[in-house]
Amino acid sequence: MPNLVTARLRLEPVAPRHAPDLLALYRDPPVAEWYGRWTWPQIESETRRMAFGWRNDGVHKWMAYHLVTGQCVGRGGLSRAVVDGRPRLELGWVLHGRFWGQGYATEIGRAGLDLAFGPLGADEVVSFTETRNSRSRAVMRRLGFTYAKPLLIENEPYALYALSRPPA
Ligand SMILES: CC(C)(COP(=O)(O)OP(=O)(O)OC[C@H]1O[C@@H](n2cnc3c(N)ncnc32)[C@H](O)[C@@H]1OP(=O)(O)O)[C@@H](O)C(=O)NCCC(=O)NCCS
Repeated sequence: MPNLVTARLRLEPVAPRHAPDLLALYRDPPVAEWYGRWTWPQIESETRRMAFGWRNDGVHKWMAYHLVTGQCVGRGGLSRAVVDGRPRLELGWVLHGRFWGQGYATEIGRAGLDLAFGPLGADEVVSFTETRNSRSRAVMRRLGFTYAKPLLIENEPYALYALSRPPA
């Protein structure tokens, strides 16, 4: 899968070589508050899982690098997953704390939607997050998602959002 370039970011399909950057991202304290504690073996297996997704499903998450500085900004994008009991195309984002508040998650999200409604020909994309994750919910609203329903995942309340293919 080729890299993709947006206004400010280079998006690289996650592969095993991204494991060090992904571990640094998940261990960034503002991210770890949401993602918990990750070990090196867990990250290695996570990057292998994502690379398999790219090979098997034709899509998975990207690592995002700043076009000018080369810094790792975060990761995000689409993946195929069973959500609320059926297979869906899911969109998500995670940013290093120092990059919050500058629209990078929205930029990654837009690239995901362009891929979903363009080359992948999807009719719908969903996104979900912990109900209390107001920053992630704001990204969803900014991208045009509307709230669909509450979900309970491992006893934690989540909010499910959906966005249909825009009319031609
Ligand atoms: C969820 C998360 C990615 C949201 O990051 P974020 O920086 O708030 O979202 P964006 O990158 O879209 O930035 C939006 C902010 O930048 C501002 N902004 C500046 N330039 C912008 C632009 N060109 N486009 C959009 N927003 C812009 C917006 O006004 C908004 O500001 P505000 O937060 O003061 O309202 C981040 O909080 C995170 O990584 N959290 C931990 C991991 C996580 O919870 N992930 C979600 C799991 S489902």
